[in-house]
Amino acid sequence: MNLQALADLSSQWPDLRLLTEPGDLEHYGRDWTRRWTPSPLAIALPASIDEVQGIMRWANQHKVAIVPSGGRTGLSGGAVAANGELVLSLARMNRVLGFDAVDRTLTVQPGIALEAVHTAAREHGLIYPVDFAARGSCSIGGNIATNAGGIRVIRYGNTREWIAGLKVVAGNGELLDLNRGLIKNSSGYDLRQLMIGSEGTLGIVVEATLRLTDPPPASQVMLLALPDMDALMQVFALFRERLSLQAFEFFTDVALKHVLAHGAQRAIDGDYPYYVVTEFDTVDERAQETALATFEQGVEQGLIADGVMAQSDAQAAALWRLREGITESLAAHKPYKNDISVRIGAVQGFLQEIQALLTREYPHMEVVWFGHIGDGNLHINVLKPGTLSDAEFIAQCEHVTKLLAETLQRHAGSISAEHGIGLVKRAYLESTRSTAEIALMRGVKAVFDPNGILNPGKLFA
Ligand code: MLT
Ligand code: ZN
Repeated sequence: MNLQALADLSSQWPDLRLLTEPGDLEHYGRDWTRRWTPSPLAIALPASIDEVQGIMRWANQHKVAIVPSGGRTGLSGGAVAANGELVLSLARMNRVLGFDAVDRTLTVQPGIALEAVHTAAREHGLIYPVDFAARGSCSIGGNIATNAGGIRVIRYGNTREWIAGLKVVAGNGELLDLNRGLIKNSSGYDLRQLMIGSEGTLGIVVEATLRLTDPPPASQVMLLALPDMDALMQVFALFRERLSLQAFEFFTDVALKHVLAHGAQRAIDGDYPYYVVTEFDTVDERAQETALATFEQGVEQGLIADGVMAQSDAQAAALWRLREGITESLAAHKPYKNDISVRIGAVQGFLQEIQALLTREYPHMEVVWFGHIGDGNLHINVLKPGTLSDAEFIAQCEHVTKLLAETLQRHAGSISAEHGIGLVKRAYLESTRSTAEIALMRGVKAVFDPNGILNPGKLFA
């Protein structure tokens, strides 16, 4: 039946690029989660908004599920097609459409890589400040779909702060032009913001107008080694009070072991349980002195055991690699990922509780902690031991995620800080959203996507 439908799509849109080779189905049917076996019906690579609308109308007519697809670097299964869906890849819609010097906006197609957006912004002497390690592979459409965060949220906020306008094809095929680049717009519900973070369940972003800003002043990167977990938030408080932070990220000795084994360079001799990579503005010499004085104060108070200040851009990049290389260094170990957040004020107590929980529940597994601690966002990756099958490993991890979700609920936190709910965390949505909220979310989904065509099974069952 779906093959018949596919033939119909092809005859309605003869120029639409459609792929059905097994290698393509495999390639486009999965994301970085690697947990599901891809099994899409076909891959459509539209080159225009018209074609995207055409696909959506066809999908409604034939009741074919659509999985919107960007760079597929997602970590929660949001772009997985394992049930005969049509993958709608935006990879060919990857151009910069325009720059507006007065509004300081860049209008782009959704398939453009984040790194290409950075380059385009810099060509105009400005920056697009959302940034994270997958910058070269992820696409801006996917960033919008998950409200991506990253390493500079502490200074610039999430993707949502930087979207001035969106063109979206809703589930019913209708084209919506949302907010049109306006800074002030108090004319009712902000549907643009509703689309951001909706994980491809309400509409498909077909064009985005991004806000740009001035580059930050000169900055310094420091790696700090900390004696214990309690020092983490105290060092954060000290540095945030005295310096103008652009980033404040942490990782453990276990994360360091993996990233070093994966080619990163050791920067501090000696072994310490916790590390921080921080970047802060150094407008002038006085700011540099303040940074050193802050570091020394931390050492005197017994909060910092050792540290390195980058002396060149190359050294700064090497320090950043210790943090940014972690995800890649863990990939071969098939990690089970948790991406959780609590309010900054709740981090300290939460960390202690979580540490006790993980030590109790995972005595036989390697657990890697790292993340955007300055935003209250922790990544807890559990590595699969060779002794367990994939299914046994996932079952054990899901049991612990349930306990984690209960702890999060007590601390009013979130089961997904920046990766999205997708398939991986949908069983735990109730830990973060109330029954009333979920009912309203389902209602919103029904309004934008009445036939349930868009990314079914993601976010909610
Ligand atoms: C990161 O910040 O490096 C990723 O979001 C975390 C992960 O891979 O779990
Ligand atoms: Zn992250």
